Amino acid sequence: MKAELVRFGVSLEKQLRDNFDTLIRERKYTNRSEALRDLIRRALVQRTWGKGGDVAGAITLIYDHHHRDVLTNVTDIQHDFQKIIVSTQHIHLDHNNCLEIIATRGKAEEVQQLADALTSIKGVRHGTLGMSSTGREI
Ligand code: NI
Repeated sequence: MKAELVRFGVSLEKQLRDNFDTLIRERKYTNRSEALRDLIRRALVQRTWGKGGDVAGAITLIYDHHHRDVLTNVTDIQHDFQKIIVSTQHIHLDHNNCLEIIATRGKAEEVQQLADALTSIKGVRHGTLGMSSTGREI
């Protein structure tokens, strides 16, 4: 089913419009509408995270699996949060380093708590939380 499209006019200072057009070229948007849709969706996703709604996200971790207890701690925490974990992928990057990608879905605060708990483990060198959406509100 195709969504109904609506049109509306936007008034901007010329300088702001010029800067927006530069951004559109840099980010390879095909037109202003596509760029604006993307910006609106980003704001809506941020709002959902801000008000503690249902979200989806991806946590990435980089760690040295030789580091004492790191594997046990990463696993223990994931068991504590198994209700909001959809899947986990473990990639052996090289002899020492592992990449773990954890797909999550749940309340924003819980997903944030999980990301904080994992990235603060001793031996985790880098952790990120990609904040995204369940797709319903965008
Ligand atoms: Ni590994």
